Amino acid sequence: MDPLADEVLSLIRRPKSSFTLGELADSLKISKYRLHRALDDLRALGYQFGSDTNHHLHLAASPDRMIDMEILSGLKTRTFARHLHCYRKIGSTNATAVELAEAGAPEGTVIVAEEQTKGRGRLGRHWHSAPGMGIWSSVIMRPPVPPDEVTGLSLVTALAFAETAESELSVQVQLKWPNDCLIDGRKVCGILIELSAESDRVHYAVCGTGINVSQQRKDFPSALRKTATSLSLATGGPVDRLAFYRAFLYRLESLYNRFRRHGLLPLLPGYRERSILIGKKVTVRHGRQKVTGTAIAIHETGGLVVRAKGKEIVLHAGEATLR
Ligand code: BTN
Repeated sequence: MDPLADEVLSLIRRPKSSFTLGELADSLKISKYRLHRALDDLRALGYQFGSDTNHHLHLAASPDRMIDMEILSGLKTRTFARHLHCYRKIGSTNATAVELAEAGAPEGTVIVAEEQTKGRGRLGRHWHSAPGMGIWSSVIMRPPVPPDEVTGLSLVTALAFAETAESELSVQVQLKWPNDCLIDGRKVCGILIELSAESDRVHYAVCGTGINVSQQRKDFPSALRKTATSLSLATGGPVDRLAFYRAFLYRLESLYNRFRRHGLLPLLPGYRERSILIGKKVTVRHGRQKVTGTAIAIHETGGLVVRAKGKEIVLHAGEATLR
């Protein structure tokens, strides 16, 4: 983003700011001509400006676009998204995050896109990521845990999504281990963790989150229409995508930091109370393994504890279905 446009916006956005064009140009030590050009650039991005009777400028509207100026404005995180890569169109934010992580990008680096053409879902599935309708985003994490505790990251992310949706939009979220977030039984958010690790150490984990925000039923491909939902469908009105994203990143960072410091244990009660599997009969498939039994707990490593044929088994990954 052009640094001048960024400075113009931060000055206009300052609480109680009141600048005429001339005062704004003076504060920025630029000519009025350059200021007009910067304002035109901002208008082209979707910003709108108004002025009062004293010719004081104010911001009349901001674009609903995944651009750094919007994401960073009012973002409360310390590390998450402080390295931020925004794309209008990308193959997959996870794929790009993997490349950046391999090249040494720091923890908390965020990649976000308006549209994905090759969005990756779990188990090699495609993730439908229509332009402007959702939050398609990946965070690079470097957690100090062994690889078999990485399922914990899915749970941390799912809980961060649930808490954000509940506090920002007053909608109730259910969690389906390990990483599906549902509203009224339909999927609203999916999480895909991709990992580089050796036997006892994680080099990095890319935590990809796809959140359906503004879709109406007709916007989903017919194959998803019965099983998917969006925040907008759940609330029955428009949802401020950027405000939601900023709140989500903040919560994700804070839960992730707790996970880093204390492990999953302090987060488990929050996950358990939203789990739709605990206490139910389930089948969990993982590769060629298939376990049928009763889901009785979430283990402190993030695994699902299933009682099957009198034994308690901890499953670290898999696709669970209710029976
Ligand atoms: C699932 O199958 O439930 C997981 C879906 C994860 C989708 C997100 S969208 C952002 C990130 N980039 C990807 O390519 N996939 C994840």
